[in-house]
Amino acid sequence: ELEPLPLMTLDFLQILSEVCEQCYRDFAPDDVEVKVREHILQDFETFLRCQVPGAKLVLFGSSKNGFGFKQSDLDICMTLEGQDTAEGLDSMAVIESLAKALRKHHSLRNILPITTAKVPIVKFYHTKTGLEGDISLYNTLALHNTQLLASYAAIDARVKILCYVMKVFAKVCDIGDASRGSLSSYAYTLMVLYFLQQRSPPVIPVLQEMYVGEKKPVVLVDGWDVHFFSDLKNLHKYWPGYKKNKESVGQLWFGLLQFYTETFDFKETVVCIRRIEPLTTFKKQWTSKHLAIEDPFDLSHNLGAGLSRRMASFIMKAFINARRVFGAPVRDFPPEYPNKMEYF
Ligand code: CTP
Ligand code: MG
Repeated sequence: ELEPLPLMTLDFLQILSEVCEQCYRDFAPDDVEVKVREHILQDFETFLRCQVPGAKLVLFGSSKNGFGFKQSDLDICMTLEGQDTAEGLDSMAVIESLAKALRKHHSLRNILPITTAKVPIVKFYHTKTGLEGDISLYNTLALHNTQLLASYAAIDARVKILCYVMKVFAKVCDIGDASRGSLSSYAYTLMVLYFLQQRSPPVIPVLQEMYVGEKKPVVLVDGWDVHFFSDLKNLHKYWPGYKKNKESVGQLWFGLLQFYTETFDFKETVVCIRRIEPLTTFKKQWTSKHLAIEDPFDLSHNLGAGLSRRMASFIMKAFINARRVFGAPVRDFPPEYPNKMEYF
């Protein structure tokens, strides 16, 4: 049972909750914007099929996982009909021919094939919408993690709101760009989900540990187990923690900042959303990393692997700062909220 908070603190948390909810309303795309993304995808597919026979396109990432912004990039995965895996495929050649094809599209600019990255892609800029995007090939695990994140987003409205707040926070503090040495927004989303699983009582379950029947099913994709409980309308039957946590988003946001600045030990523990038991950096042999975030499916992938010591410390400082700002007295408190300062 949580200790009752003093009245004034409740007021402050109420304001914090409203700010969090406002953040979600301001940045989430509306129905039209969602449809526009689907329309672009359809248009690309029709266009590509004339030049790359059997090309199939699927949207993934934040356009589909429930944590998209109005201006989020278009993450597109391409596969070829009749070919289940990338095996035997000359990815570089396909990427080059894809780039060549896209250059003929009248509303695309800045076509740039990147064949040196872990996942080869073609980047593009869509002039009609001002959206950037990229097309990757057989990015199958990413399609599965998109579904996993979408499931968590669908469980509780607070999940969505907090992930938006976290992404805004990362953008504002300039700590959310993996291509510039910090962490991807995907990594920050995993951090929010981990916190919500570890909260007491938890806000969300560990879907990858849940199953119906005797034995946990194993579904292998690219050699990794991608099984997770997805029968969300029956979640209340299988998850004893269902709706037990009644905290407000403001409370949770402040709780998250406290968790990552005071409770969680980055040296010892891995941010890991696939199990409830703590996972140690020692067990993963990730002790030399400053910040370890395990991908929920590709267990060899540490999303914090690319962080320099300086960057890790910069990120931690941003959290410590936020912890102070969101819990500290505000000098110019709005006049309708007088005398709040003394409580913080
Ligand atoms: N992804 C991944 N592993 C990473 C980075 C990304 O599997 N190290 C996958 C995730 O499915 C992610 C998607 O690629 O959602 C797209 O990545 P990105 O565009 O960086 O993040 P988004 O989740 O789409 O968020 P944003 O709104 O910032 O685009
Ligand atoms: Mg994206």
